Formats: sequence, structure tokens, C-alpha cells
Amino acid sequence: MKNLAIDPERLWDDLMQTARIGATPKGGICRLTLTDLDRQVRDWFKSAAEGLGCTVTVDDMGTIFARRPGQRADIPPIAMGSHLDTQPTGGKFDGALGVLAALEALRTLHRAGYETFAPIEVINWTNEEGSRFTPAMIASGVFAGVFERDWACARLDRSGETFGAALEKIGYRGPEKCGDHKLSAFFEVHIEQGPYLEAEAKEIGVVTGVQAMRWYEVTVTGQDTHAGTTPMPRRHDALLAAAKLVEAVNASARSHAPYAVGTVGLLEVKPGSPNVVPGEVFFTIDMRHPEAAVLDTMEQEIAVAASLVRNQLGVEVSIKNIWTQPAVQFDPGCIAAVRTAAKVSGFSTRDMISGAGHDAAYVSRVAPAAMIFVPCKNGISHNEAEYSSKEQCAAGAQVLLQAVLDYDRQLAERYGK
Ligand code: GLV
Ligand code: MN
Ligand code: MN
Repeated sequence: MKNLAIDPERLWDDLMQTARIGATPKGGICRLTLTDLDRQVRDWFKSAAEGLGCTVTVDDMGTIFARRPGQRADIPPIAMGSHLDTQPTGGKFDGALGVLAALEALRTLHRAGYETFAPIEVINWTNEEGSRFTPAMIASGVFAGVFERDWACARLDRSGETFGAALEKIGYRGPEKCGDHKLSAFFEVHIEQGPYLEAEAKEIGVVTGVQAMRWYEVTVTGQDTHAGTTPMPRRHDALLAAAKLVEAVNASARSHAPYAVGTVGLLEVKPGSPNVVPGEVFFTIDMRHPEAAVLDTMEQEIAVAASLVRNQLGVEVSIKNIWTQPAVQFDPGCIAAVRTAAKVSGFSTRDMISGAGHDAAYVSRVAPAAMIFVPCKNGISHNEAEYSSKEQCAAGAQVLLQAVLDYDRQLAERYGK
């Protein structure tokens, strides 16, 4: 294998340059999917890729594919990438590292004039975060045939705008039917978003799979009444009921330690007035564990808590499961390519299961896939303080490049170069 080296400075410059699009005062990024800021970073990505001689195409979910040809145009590309959308108080690395490391790997091939066997692609998936439109990873989900495109396009943000309208508005509804784009393999670099690599002083996480996750939307309906005149026993306080359910989510996750996690991350109180007992509360639940059976039990525990709250407070509770993502096992061939790549690059490794969701999880249903993690400071992510060093980011990009080249060699052997 020719020893190609990515350029850490170039990668860092790209990370810092794109981080200005949606920069927050605390050093993070707020670049919600399908907003004008998302359009700006997409435009940046498109022109950077075209500058490297890539052909850029867009599918009808807004996912962008930048292709560098290989020797064989008839073989589907080996793809790499992640997402450029962020959380409302997102950091500079979640998603952006995966796209920009991929761009840097491709740029390294371009500058070296290295001809791969298969075409190589960089992908920017639409709406990985699921913050503005639920669920997360919606475009890779449509790509993998898990969601219908029409259903995805009808998803509403909290202001009532549809995904489809927002996509049209930023001009990124492409002509290609989502899912028609075939891939030979997919590799995604990402910050770990957890504490293990840093704690164990390992440089690269070889990601073997992703834990199971479920999202729910809960509506509690009580009664709007006067805060000064309604005696406590006569109230049907939807917020009090919701508070008890938030506690129940936390207790359920804690009772399935050490792997279970449960979060209420969004809560809306109506009518939202200091002197009205709240009559309606909407909130979300995010539950995760490597095993579906544990999530089944947690779901039951929350249902029991909901019926207690109904009886105690005389409220209605509706719990809707809006997303079930089973645990994912990545492809052994791709995992082996990552492991070998880390080894030849001289990095220490640790196998791990991802606690976070990633587009690679859905892509793995339709193409062999695996992921590469790099450490992040204090394991903090979905936070403006999220940080991985230049060297840590570079290590991820280098392993990505080597893994893709390793996989390319395997394809060349398979197809009889
Ligand atoms: C994606 O950001 C997730 O919630 O895991
Ligand atoms: Mn991410
Ligand atoms: Mn994220």
C-alpha cells in the first residue's frame, strides 16, 4: 500500500472555517438541519468537492454525494462521510469531523494523483441529528428503506414547517431518488462522544456496532385552571404529572445500570402562564441500551408510571413510540479494514459499541459499513465545549484513508483487477 498521509493542518482549517457557519458565542455551532446556515455549509462543501474534481449529486432527501472516479466506473463507490447539521448547542466536531475528514482523505488521493480501483465518495447525510425534525438519521433511514420518503418529508418541526418544504426552501432537493445510490461500503469517522477512549488513553475506537434506541412523544392532558383559586386537591396539573414521568424515566434507566440511558430532552408546557395550572405538556423520551429486551422492560416501567400518574392526578397520558432503532452489528470486513488501518498507522485501539446513533447504522442495512472513533475531551458532546485536538482529528482521518484503501484493494482482488 502506498503510504499516503493526510494533512492535519488542512483538516483543522476546514473544521475551523466551516465552524464559522452558525458559530455560537460559546465556541460551538448552531446549524440546524435545512436552515439557511445548513444551506451555506452545503454550498461550501459542494464547491470544495468540485474544486477537487468531484462530481456532486444530490438525492431527493437532500443528501449530497461527491464522487471521485476510480479505474472502474461500473463498481459502486466506497463512501465515507457523516453530517454537517448540528444540535442547537452543538460542538464543532459532531458530524463535521466525519465529512471533513472524508474530504481530506479524498483531497490526499487527489493531490497524490492516486488512482483507486473503485470510485470514492464523500457523503453529507441530511438531518442526522433529529433535533429539528424527528427522528434522527432520517435521510440515511430513507436511503436504507426503513422510512418512506413521503413520510419523512411530511415530518413537522415544532413551528409546523414540513421537512419537505424546508428542503425545497434551501434548494437542496436533488433529482436522484433516495436509496437508488448504490455503495460498495461506507466508513464514518466520528468523535466518540463518550469518555472511554480518553480514560483509557486509546487513540482510535474500532466501532463494532451501535446500541438500540427508541424515541417516544408523550402528551399529558390535564386542565387549565386558575393558580390562585384552584385548591390543590382539585387540580389536574399536567406539568406535575410530566415531572413524575421524567423522574420515572430516570429511575428506570438507573435501575438497568450500567448501560441503560433515559432522557427527557424537550418539554413544552401549555398554556405557559405563571398563574395558570398547566393543562397540557408535550415531552420526548430517548431510551437506549445494547439489548432490545431491556428497552422492552423500560417501556413497560414507564407505562406503569403513566397509569399511576393518571389515577393520582386525573390526567390523560398518551405515549407514542415514534422511532425504534434496533442494535446494529457492523460488517466484519469493514471492521477488519479499520483495525488494520489503525495498526498500520501506528495507533492504539479499543473495540467499542457506539452509544450515539449514526448514519452508518442505517447504511449498514444496505452496504457493508463500519466506524472509526477518536477521543473527545471529557467525553462531552452535544455541547458547545465539545473538543478533539488537531492530532486526534488527524488520526481519525488517517485511519479512514487507510481503511478505504484497504477496502479498495479487497475489491480489486474480488473483481480480479
Ligand atoms: C445522534 O446525535 C444521537 O442522538 O445519537
Ligand atoms: Mn453525529
Ligand atoms: Mn449528534
